[in-house]
Amino acid sequence: MEILRNRQSLSDYIAAVKKEGKKIGFAPTMGALHDGHMSLYKEARKDNDIVISSVFVNPTQFNNPDDLKKYPRTEENDIAMLEKAGVDAVYIPSTEDIYPEKAESKHYDFGGIENEMEGKFRPGHFDGVGTVVSELFRQVQPDNAYFGEKDYQQLAIIKKLVEIEKFPINIHGVPIYRAENGLALSSRNARLSEDERNGAALIYKTLVKVNEWFRVISIPEIKKRVEEIFEQSDYELEYFLIADEETLKETDFFYKDKSYRAFIVVFVGGVRLIDNMHLD
Ligand code: PAF
Repeated sequence: MEILRNRQSLSDYIAAVKKEGKKIGFAPTMGALHDGHMSLYKEARKDNDIVISSVFVNPTQFNNPDDLKKYPRTEENDIAMLEKAGVDAVYIPSTEDIYPEKAESKHYDFGGIENEMEGKFRPGHFDGVGTVVSELFRQVQPDNAYFGEKDYQQLAIIKKLVEIEKFPINIHGVPIYRAENGLALSSRNARLSEDERNGAALIYKTLVKVNEWFRVISIPEIKKRVEEIFEQSDYELEYFLIADEETLKETDFFYKDKSYRAFIVVFVGGVRLIDNMHLD
């Protein structure tokens, strides 16, 4: 596997790959890799000749400096996992390779989806994501790019970004990869104790119940039940809501011909965990 530690070495690598007419699949990450990331590479392998990943903890998407400081950094292990997954190259840029002048976000209008859910609770987050992903897309020039559905709103934002910036890139959503107990895999799970990891399965169990309740009881009643579940637990519910899967707007009632998804954010021992589930 090629380890590309600056913009120039990436650019030389990409030029050589493009010259051979090879198709590039790309999965950007912030490192602390886990099996969820491996499922992105597996998917990318199906449609492309070359699979590239990046590891860059993007400062502009963190609205909480403490969260940025505590974000797990496990480069050695990441490289070993990427090698094992058969990834062809990893780009590990410096901050200057991505932000030559100043590490700051551009402002994007994603048509309103940026103001829902994570946009409300993490001001500026999606401007940071849009800025870094468009820079990475410009540098890596992939044909296909892969993102996990755990960050479902981010996936929707990136589909919009590609439209806005007119990038000739196909965006692929990859289903959430869950641990045996149902906990969605996340780099942040590395900060949980074993007990917390076991306890955090409550998030998935709750979503499964929500799916059973959906279209049987009203949405306000579902919300009340979810709030009660977390009031009686050791964990703090930041938000739970059901939204239209396309507009991501919260809803209190449903129409037969529309698709809906439940979204939840819970603090477990100070770690912010996010999950979602399509509702049948
Ligand atoms: O999902 C992530 O890990 C990050 O938000 C991304 C897409 C790599 C941008 O920094």
